Amino acid sequence: MPNANSDHNAQTAPDQATLILGERQFQFPVIEGSEQERAIDISYLRAETGHITLDQGYGNTGSCQSAITFIDGDRGILRYRGIPIEQFADYPHFTEVALLLILGRLPSETELEDFSADLTRYAFLDEGMKHQFEGFPRSAPPMAILSAMINSLSCFHTELHELEDEREFLHTAAHIISKIRTIAAFAFRHSRGLPYIYPDPALRYVQNLLHMMLSQPYHQHVCPDIVRKALNLIFILHADHEQNCSTSTVRMVGSSGANLFASVAAGVCALWGPLHGGANVEVLSMLEQIHEGNLTPEEYVKLAKDKNSKVRLMGFGHRVYKNFDPRAQMLAKVAEELVPKLSGDDPLLEIARRLEDIALTDSYFVERQLYPNVDFYSGIILRAIGIPTNMFTVMFAIGRLPGWIAHWWEQNQTAGTRIARPRQIYTGETRTDYLPMEDRA
Ligand code: CMC
Repeated sequence: MPNANSDHNAQTAPDQATLILGERQFQFPVIEGSEQERAIDISYLRAETGHITLDQGYGNTGSCQSAITFIDGDRGILRYRGIPIEQFADYPHFTEVALLLILGRLPSETELEDFSADLTRYAFLDEGMKHQFEGFPRSAPPMAILSAMINSLSCFHTELHELEDEREFLHTAAHIISKIRTIAAFAFRHSRGLPYIYPDPALRYVQNLLHMMLSQPYHQHVCPDIVRKALNLIFILHADHEQNCSTSTVRMVGSSGANLFASVAAGVCALWGPLHGGANVEVLSMLEQIHEGNLTPEEYVKLAKDKNSKVRLMGFGHRVYKNFDPRAQMLAKVAEELVPKLSGDDPLLEIARRLEDIALTDSYFVERQLYPNVDFYSGIILRAIGIPTNMFTVMFAIGRLPGWIAHWWEQNQTAGTRIARPRQIYTGETRTDYLPMEDRA
């Protein structure tokens, strides 16, 4: 095993870090990423010193090296494979961005056509899966159904558990990216007791999703271009965000050798939480609560600052962005353009603007560098498009899926990947003896 003092990372380490523990000193290599981010490589810390690090919430811990997404939270920069997120505002389809993330480069025309053809071919679910939908209560949360049914895919596609090469991986990626749409739409239709609408091979990704969700057997939903563009952009802006909670979950599950379906299903569960993807639902319920007159925006902000209240200003704050979230800025612009066109004067948009104004000038939020995040405006847009609130986080999941897949594959292809297995500092009972029941007080 290389020694922490050794130069096993010398080629990437322009510097070294010294740790002083009592009388002893230890040197650790400092590694640098392509955007000059620096990390102290402590891979041999425990072997050398007998100590581990403690970093609750992993705010200072790099879990891997990754070439997929770059974020500079202080400068509000987000890039996919080097391309600034702002450049996706007008041009590509979500599927092209998905391929960019997954392949590691912009696809050629043929690659994009082949992948799109796969998405069309794989959109149908095995009829056996329909019976599984029937087993869920109508009231089942769509995120629970989504996770369960993605895991179910691994029962129907056992041939895709072991992936031999990039070609097999791309087919599997296309299966999941296509089928998640059908599953999402069926989950929604099931919750409403509506007949399932099958995918239409003539429709592109976004229109096909809305068709399966919103068409009726006697009436085909027609997706206005403004809606297609908005949803396309929402998916693109959610497509990856480096080592966030759900992506780290996908990587952690994948590190055990679990297949892509199982790993992604776990990612859906992590995303569901209100501090992560579930925040878009919470934002809307916050806005509705204020609209119903229970609280004014000023009172809500006051409550969010009160540490005893357990209330947070939902859609505000981010672990990484400490200046602005570029995704939130782009979505705020879309909301301003789209919502008046689709819904006229939306009082919730007015309340969101008011909350933002109050928070951005309030010392509590300014000092803690809390700004609107991607979830602050996405719910208002989704609502205007006609997506019900309980499907908001499902929409986030559809958008984030290419990122999860790209990370799973990157890890899978990285030589020397080890099973993810953090340590802990034990704080429980020291050695004690088992007491038979009759001897217990
Ligand atoms: N409202 C009020 N106070 C807040 C908020 C908020 N939204 N966010 C953070 N704070 C306070 C927090 O109480 C703490 O104060 P103090 O230093 O006095 O104890 C300080 O700001 C730092 O907060 P933290 O919880 O240590 O920050 P974190 O990096 O662990 O959490 C976060 C990040 C996004 C979970 C958090 O800001 C939050 O809960 N925001 C609301 C939920 C939300 O919008 N989540 C979506 C995140 S973006 C999309 C995604 O990742 O899914």
